[in-house]
Amino acid sequence: MKLLAPSVLSADFWKLGEQIEAVVRGGADLIHLDVMDGHFVPNITFGPVLVESIRRHCKLPLDVHLMIENADRYIPEFVRAGANWVSVHIENNPHIHRTLQLIKDLGAKAGVVINPGTSLYAIEEALHYADFVLLMSVNPGFGGQKFIERSIDRLKKLRQMVNSINPNILIEIDGGIKEENIKQVALAGADVFVIGSGIFSYENIEEQTRRIKEKLIS
Ligand code: DX5
Ligand code: ZN
Repeated sequence: MKLLAPSVLSADFWKLGEQIEAVVRGGADLIHLDVMDGHFVPNITFGPVLVESIRRHCKLPLDVHLMIENADRYIPEFVRAGANWVSVHIENNPHIHRTLQLIKDLGAKAGVVINPGTSLYAIEEALHYADFVLLMSVNPGFGGQKFIERSIDRLKKLRQMVNSINPNILIEIDGGIKEENIKQVALAGADVFVIGSGIFSYENIEEQTRRIKEKLIS
């Protein structure tokens, strides 16, 4: 099954509630929330307060992508705020077994994220116990960047690794996914598609969500 996860990073925060309702009507399956701390990545976004207020009004699972230092320290608060899926980067979480276990113990789905410049073998071990893996197809930090083409080959290889190690894992992809390349990315083996600017930069967000969802399920 292919799942669509709009990323609110490219939303107009003045109209955040309205715009989330629009993606929900358009057929979104998850809401992707990018948490950045200005240390691990060169940008700052939001924390558990926003997750909590979205949780109060939105029934879809909340997919929280943590791009922060000391993730272990903040994970309980994000889950308490309503995060259903929580992912952490392999690059700055060396005790990945403990961190993913912490997320699972709190009752959320645990994901490991890998940057474009990191060898896929760095997450080979974590595939045995992660619920999902998030392959970055841009360098994390900003919405609206260009898809790194090399990600297609990486995705195909990751699909093979997942199939042989733990076929229950979902593969999520994040960065530069648009109406134009989503089909190619789906064929390369992704299950969950994060899309920020490819949805929220459109005048009619609901219609754009629906158009992308149709591309995914056709
Ligand atoms: C980047 C974030 C992405 C971002 C994707 O660090 O992880 O989720 O919102 O935005 P687009 O789809 O515009 O590349
Ligand atoms: Zn993200």
